[in-house]
Amino acid sequence: MKKSPILIIGKNGKTGARVNQRLQALGYSTHAVSRSTTPTFDWENPATWAPAIKGASSAYVTYQPDLAVPNAEAIIKEFVRVAAEAGLKHIVMLSGRGEEGAQRAEKILMDSGISWNIVRCSWFSQNFSESFMLDGILAGELLLPAGDTVEPFVDVDDIADVVVTTLTQPGHRNKLYELTGPRALNFSQCIKEISDALGQPVKYTYVPVNEYIGVLREQGVPEDLQWLLHELFTVVFDGRNCNVMSGVEEVLGRPATDFKTYVQKTIASGVWDAVFQKESA
Ligand SMILES: NC(=O)c1ccc[n+]([C@@H]2O[C@H](COP(=O)([O-])OP(=O)(O)OC[C@H]3O[C@@H](n4cnc5c(N)ncnc54)[C@H](OP(=O)(O)O)[C@@H]3O)[C@@H](O)[C@H]2O)c1
Repeated sequence: MKKSPILIIGKNGKTGARVNQRLQALGYSTHAVSRSTTPTFDWENPATWAPAIKGASSAYVTYQPDLAVPNAEAIIKEFVRVAAEAGLKHIVMLSGRGEEGAQRAEKILMDSGISWNIVRCSWFSQNFSESFMLDGILAGELLLPAGDTVEPFVDVDDIADVVVTTLTQPGHRNKLYELTGPRALNFSQCIKEISDALGQPVKYTYVPVNEYIGVLREQGVPEDLQWLLHELFTVVFDGRNCNVMSGVEEVLGRPATDFKTYVQKTIASGVWDAVFQKESA
């Protein structure tokens, strides 16, 4: 075991859980936290931060709900101050592409005096299986306010591999890596690949953004999440992020995982099996 534990903020998250599992498999001691752990870590309660950081010298940080939200910059500013005081020497922070708020938060970390890495990612492939798009797939129809804009979806397993490398290999310090998958697809193409591989009809339907947000409102989705999704689909998803980047290969020396491989892995995991159950019911 190495000396001080590596702090992971976002224990149960799509990336945090994978980073935790990989570090432990390599023999590192970890201290993974979120609102449901003891000690607890809550982005909305700064009093929880220092006790959770105590004893760690490096950290993987995932912010909730998203670095694009208006108050994220101020919260990250306060967090890096507390982190430096509590003894953190190296922070690897997950960020999003094309989000002005996220880029302001990145700069705060870069200028903090703490050694840093920014892992700036495209949309995750796993949003189709571990997040808000799963329900649509299981229902046989995904409705979103995204037209033909393409996105080079990145596999979360690649993100976790990159994060672990930057946390454990000092040669990467103070570098920003932009991670995408190797192929840009629009939502309709993604759903066709999923549907073809499943051998089950799943379709993609475009809905105007105001109609989409109206449905979220009726469903009681919190207002900040409505704001975030509106921002993502109208501003961030305007085509600015369609280019493929080489971050995965730069860090890992291997190509990024293709969406097809993600689909095969996900089918094998059984998470989309409910589509079959519905079809045979
Ligand atoms: N999804 C994408 O396509 C994408 C792309 C680029 C960047 N990102 C960024 O990725 C980050 C999310 O990372 P992820 O996907 O690995 O995590 P995730 O799957 O969204 O993490 C969910 C976990 O976060 C914890 N959490 C929720 N609110 C919290 C709070 N106030 N304080 C502390 N923990 C909280 C919850 O655990 P508890 O209930 O136990 O607290 C929950 O299990 C966001 O900053 C997002 O902007 C996402």
